[in-house]
Amino acid sequence: MNVLVVGSGGREHAICKSLKKSKLLNKLYIASSSTFKEAIDIKYSDYDDLAQKCKALQIDIVIVGPEGPICEGITDIFRKYKVNIIAPTQKWSYLESSKLVAKKLMNHYSINNAPIIRAPVSFPIVLKADGLCGGKGVRIVNSMDTLVAQMEKLKEEFPEGAKNIFMEEYLEGEEISLISLWDGKNLLHFPPARDFKKLSAAKNSPNTGGMGSYCPVELTEVQQDRLDLYKTKLNFMLSDENADFIGFIYSGLIWAKNDWYVLEYNMRPGDPETQSILNQLETDFLYILNAAIYQKLDEIKLRLKPGVSATLVIASKGYPENPKDGNLIEYQTQKDIVIQHSGVELRDEKLYSKGGRNLSITTTDSEPLYAFSTLYSYADKVRMKNKYVRPGLPGN
Ligand code: GLY
Repeated sequence: MNVLVVGSGGREHAICKSLKKSKLLNKLYIASSSTFKEAIDIKYSDYDDLAQKCKALQIDIVIVGPEGPICEGITDIFRKYKVNIIAPTQKWSYLESSKLVAKKLMNHYSINNAPIIRAPVSFPIVLKADGLCGGKGVRIVNSMDTLVAQMEKLKEEFPEGAKNIFMEEYLEGEEISLISLWDGKNLLHFPPARDFKKLSAAKNSPNTGGMGSYCPVELTEVQQDRLDLYKTKLNFMLSDENADFIGFIYSGLIWAKNDWYVLEYNMRPGDPETQSILNQLETDFLYILNAAIYQKLDEIKLRLKPGVSATLVIASKGYPENPKDGNLIEYQTQKDIVIQHSGVELRDEKLYSKGGRNLSITTTDSEPLYAFSTLYSYADKVRMKNKYVRPGLPGN
């Protein structure tokens, strides 16, 4: 099969590495990254142009990583050309691009989510931007004095994403990311992962796109039971709404008041959760994607490696607000470490940082603590000026 991956971050690099191992793969394409050695780079002017290139190259399956193309309607355009694409339609992308649309749907299907507050009575509360803010549109507000200032800051940072802002109840507890694949009929769940979103463990540390992850997360019996119930409700919601797409749905869940509450939906696989999940997976990933295209995900039984896969993000100082670009990155490969490129560019065959998160590194061990310990030792050896890794993982 010929496959195209759309996107250029660590998640897409992990997808490429995983597909490259498949016996079903003929040619692998990427739109666009000039630093992934595994795939042939395709440049394009717009999604019509890319769809036409897919036809000409006889691409069998397209898989999309980032939210940008999904929210811009890549799936709707590719359908006109009859190109098989794994990504939700623009209509369904609203579950990610409007938190209020998602809440309305969850409430209709009795899916737990933090209640909206109309008049704040007790702090802390959570301030949330309705639209897309790259995972950074959430603020915890501790007092009335800072509420207005925080709102204004959010609007200033994200003039589009924070056009509408709302307040919801603050929930405290362990979080997991449940990433599932929907084929229009069946829902396949990958094992739960954990993402560390804060820049550091400090209470008021800013949210990022994710500084590290591991998979699977061990759950108690009651957590597993409640998760099974949540999965049933999600399945029912998608079926009942006739969700006519093939794509990923990511449930950001928090364990509070003895149950799982949805914090957010993302309509794509998470980054860096995907790196840990795919490294842990033994089942051929392309076999899974192909089953999704033929609405046969009910026939898939996932096989996992023993132990746990963990991922550590190597970022640039100043991330998330103002990362410093243009730093030379040098590393040597190591057998037990998978290296994924994110915000990087090639100049004269040398790698330079470009953007906040630059590399993500993944390994497997019997427990998250041991896996992260190997990752920190390796991250120390990566040469890069202004390097930042979140200390103390796995932590809070
Ligand atoms: N790791 C969170 C996200 O992908 O949005």
